[in-house]
Amino acid sequence: MAQTVFSGIQPSGTTTIGNYIGAIKQFVRLQHAYECYFCIVDLHAITVPQNPEELRENIKKLAALYLACGIDPKKATLFIQSEVPAHAQAGWIMQCISYVGELERMTQYKDKAQKHGESIPAGLLSYPPLMAADILLYETDFVPVGEDQKQHLELTRDLAERFNKKYENIFKIPDIILPEKGARIMSLQDPTKKMSKSDANRKAFISLLDEPKQIEKKIKSAVTDSEGIIRYDKERKPGISNLLVIYSALSGQPIPDLEKRYEGKGYGEFKADLAEVIIRELRPIQEKYYEIIDSPKLDDILAEGAERANAKASRMLRKIENALGLGRNR
Ligand code: TYM
Repeated sequence: MAQTVFSGIQPSGTTTIGNYIGAIKQFVRLQHAYECYFCIVDLHAITVPQNPEELRENIKKLAALYLACGIDPKKATLFIQSEVPAHAQAGWIMQCISYVGELERMTQYKDKAQKHGESIPAGLLSYPPLMAADILLYETDFVPVGEDQKQHLELTRDLAERFNKKYENIFKIPDIILPEKGARIMSLQDPTKKMSKSDANRKAFISLLDEPKQIEKKIKSAVTDSEGIIRYDKERKPGISNLLVIYSALSGQPIPDLEKRYEGKGYGEFKADLAEVIIRELRPIQEKYYEIIDSPKLDDILAEGAERANAKASRMLRKIENALGLGRNR
């Protein structure tokens, strides 16, 4: 039987080239070799306040982007998390076996909680057990994600082992798959910070739907250094190093080759070429996106995805409930 891959993306803000390089590009590759489940994690998105109309819109946009980037609904199951109730149910159970201390140690929680002062939504703290439920419900072997999710994945493994030991040995222990290049794409405006779709400064990220002119402008204004040498050095030259990673991940050219190619050349020329590389990568994705976004097919794909995911997840939920002694034995 084929091994299983599960991953998810939040429908919050605009999907960036960080999400694309760190996650989606891997999904497209993996769908040919594994049984894949790709999720639009709307329950995770509401851990911070969302505008309902915008959330609906973002769910639809993200679904269209998955497809536009090359997810084939005949090969992979694409679905919306809230349409598969087992996620919320198993999420509650995973919360009950988590310790507050380990959740408080999650760096993403610490970063996000800071922004909420006295009124930290409890969902921010219980976010990782829900993510563990997502993964464990599908008997997942591999989880392709960017580096920022590594800690959440380690927690998922801990929770699965804890459950297996304490109740019944029913969970597979999943492994992480990080991209070879671009596991952590940095902000264009502050290359010591992760590129994030929720950054208030839109110049800090490139959205998959940015127009060529915007891409040129954003790359041109990307923060670099005054040395004027195109060389990878993450510590001393984080800006140029980040741009080299993006260039390399999208063009397939190794970084040393790029360094050689741009020897003696200025940042201006390098940035103009990089903008071109990004524009060329995104053009077919954008064309496909605008074809799909208003097509009734999108709804059919999501409905079918939810049905397939429900079938798989509800079987596992039943096993979890039985192991815990919940309800009647069914
Ligand atoms: P999210 O929506 O923040 O990001 C989606 C995916 O994109 C990756 N990513 C990046 N990769 C490289 N560089 C970056 N700057 C960058 N920013 C984001 C993320 O690592 C992720 O793979 N908690 C998850 C969603 C989730 C999930 C899951 C993932 C919920 N349940 C189960 C895997 C399995 C999140 O917030 O991703």
